[in-house]
Amino acid sequence: MSIELAIIGGTGVYDPKLLEDVQTLEIDTRYGRALLTQGKYQGREVVFLARHGTKHGTPPHNVNYRANIAALVKLGVKRVVATAAVGSLNEKMPPGAMILLGQFLDFTKAREATFFDGGEAGVVHTDFTAPYCPQLNGNLLAAANQAGLELLQDGVYVCTEGPRFESAAEIRMYQKLGGDLVGMTNVPEVVLAREAGLCYSTVALSTNFGAGISPTVLTHEEVLEVMAENVEKVRRLLMELIPN
Ligand code: HPA
Repeated sequence: MSIELAIIGGTGVYDPKLLEDVQTLEIDTRYGRALLTQGKYQGREVVFLARHGTKHGTPPHNVNYRANIAALVKLGVKRVVATAAVGSLNEKMPPGAMILLGQFLDFTKAREATFFDGGEAGVVHTDFTAPYCPQLNGNLLAAANQAGLELLQDGVYVCTEGPRFESAAEIRMYQKLGGDLVGMTNVPEVVLAREAGLCYSTVALSTNFGAGISPTVLTHEEVLEVMAENVEKVRRLLMELIPN
C-alpha cells in the first residue's frame, strides 16, 4: 500500500500516538541512516520521523536533513507535513498560535543544504518563489476549518543556525526584514524536500515571543512546556488531515 503522508515531528512532537500497527524502519541512504515509524491511521499508511530523534538528542545544526528527506523519497512518500516549534516576532502570532508557513528567510551558515553538489548529482537551481506546497497548505486549512482549529496563514519563517537563541538585536533585525517567526530547522528541510520534488508544508506552533520582545529570558524548558500544552491541537489537525 502506498504511503499517503509523512509527518516530520519537531520539538515536542516525538510520538505518532495516533498510528496503529506501528513498525520501526531503518532506512539507509547515501547520506546516512534515517529512523522512522510506519503505521496506519484510519486505513491510511503514514510514516513519522522525529526530527531531533525520539529523545531530542540531535540539535538543529546536526540533524541529518539529507538522510531524512532521501529516506522519505526511498519510501515513495509524496506529501510531507512538518511541525516546528517557533519563537514569534509578530504580536498577531502569540504563544499558542498555530501558523502555516508561507515563506522563509535563510540565516543558516554551515549546513549540507542541497542534493545537487555538482559532479554526478549535477548543478541544479531550484525555484523557490513559493517554497511550501500550495495544495497541501490548502488541505491543512480545510482540515483546520473542519476541526474548528485556528490556523493562521502566510508565516514568514526566519531560520537561524542555532543552537543558541537570538540576541535582542537580531530579533529586531529579523522583524525589520519582514520575519514573523524564528526557528532553527526549516532550512534546509524545506529546501531538500522541494529539490526532491516532494509536496512539503510546515505547521509552526508559536511557543514564545522572541528575545527582547518577551519580558523573560527564554529557555528550552519554556519551549517544551508551551509545546506540550498545545501539541493536542497539532495532533487534532493531523487527524483531520490524514483521512481527507
Ligand atoms: N528562537 C529560535 N528557535 C525557537 C524559538 C526562538 O525564540 N522558540 C522556539 N524555537
